[in-house]
Amino acid sequence: MTLMEAARDIAKIDVEAACDGTCACSTCHMYLSEAHFKTLGDPSEDELDMLDLAPAPKPTSRLSCQVQ
Ligand code: FES
Repeated sequence: MTLMEAARDIAKIDVEAACDGTCACSTCHMYLSEAHFKTLGDPSEDELDMLDLAPAPKPTSRLSCQVQ
């Protein structure tokens, strides 16, 4: 389950996910805590390309559909 799915399906947070998790948009962009961000591996090149299109990215930005 991805962070986007957990937020949407368990926490019932309205996460816009226009491409439904296929890493083809940046609408699931989230800011992670520094502690959470440090536990994750590096984003893929595809995710980095999409993050370039996200509004106001920060150093701890990730696409939530790409975070397991
Ligand atoms: Fe489109 Fe995450 S839902 S990139």
